[in-house]
Amino acid sequence: MTVDLEQILRPVDSALSPYPAKWVTLASGDSMVIRQVGRDDVPTLLEHVEPLMHVERDYYDIVAARVYAELLAYHRHRVQDEYVLVAQIGSELAAIVNGRHVRPGLGMSLHTLALRRGLRIGAHAFAAKMEYHIDILGHEEVLVVAESPIGFRRWMIEYQLEERFDTPHELGGVPSYALTKELFDRARSKLIVGRRPVPDELTAKAEAGILPPSDPPTPPMDLLAATRAEYDTTGTALTMQRRMQEREVENA
Ligand SMILES: CC(C)(COP(=O)(O)OP(=O)(O)OC[C@H]1O[C@@H](n2cnc3c(N)ncnc32)[C@H](O)[C@@H]1OP(=O)(O)O)[C@@H](O)C(=O)NCCC(=O)NCCS
Repeated sequence: MTVDLEQILRPVDSALSPYPAKWVTLASGDSMVIRQVGRDDVPTLLEHVEPLMHVERDYYDIVAARVYAELLAYHRHRVQDEYVLVAQIGSELAAIVNGRHVRPGLGMSLHTLALRRGLRIGAHAFAAKMEYHIDILGHEEVLVVAESPIGFRRWMIEYQLEERFDTPHELGGVPSYALTKELFDRARSKLIVGRRPVPDELTAKAEAGILPPSDPPTPPMDLLAATRAEYDTTGTALTMQRRMQEREVENA
């Protein structure tokens, strides 16, 4: 009985060609490998995604919460035709990207999560997943949305994505944008970088294990700084409030 029900609940994945791993030289000089991972790697990824659910800055919280759910659904066979790529510097996890094959010709970009900042690691990882959709899976277009202003700059503006506002995206039902094969070809020489095959030494390090990010985004240590950024560019209101509270304590 249980087995039969599981057969109904578990979607049957299409036979999709795998993503061929590549390597990228970052502006720092580090070599970064981008490769596909399978269901067995998900528990390790979840450990590194979970802390980001508590980082409000740059919408890491909502993106991490959604990525967590998408990875779990992939691991536990509750989503159809999802793939996951990781970017690693040595063995260290630097980015996670995922998406879905919807039907022949159409792909759905899910998320891009950079775990090390400032090196366009997220941009390279996003480019790799677009390469997977267009060049390997043969999609004519990929539906994309962004939850954060940085994401909007990186995808909608850098690739000049087309509006598909009559099509709700799987992420929150918001209007979609599309990366078409034509747009991808236009971006190819500028935004899509990397070489194949990956040298054995880099492959060995990447496959040896997915290690935690060495400098992941974290919640601010100084809560005043975080609040100041959101509500008060000078922090004056909070400084005054703190002084008044201190005086009240002194006068008590
Ligand atoms: C969107 C995202 C994937 C882009 O990754 P990326 O290409 O590696 O870019 P970074 O986030 O490192 O840098 C983006 C900007 O932040 C700034 N930045 C650089 N280092 C930074 C740091 N240590 N901390 C904060 N901001 C930084 C830079 O000004 C950079 O500006 P640029 O656009 O002029 O280069 C990444 O910001 C991210 O994971 N954000 C949270 C999740 C998200 O929004 N995902 C996309 C929606 S699906």
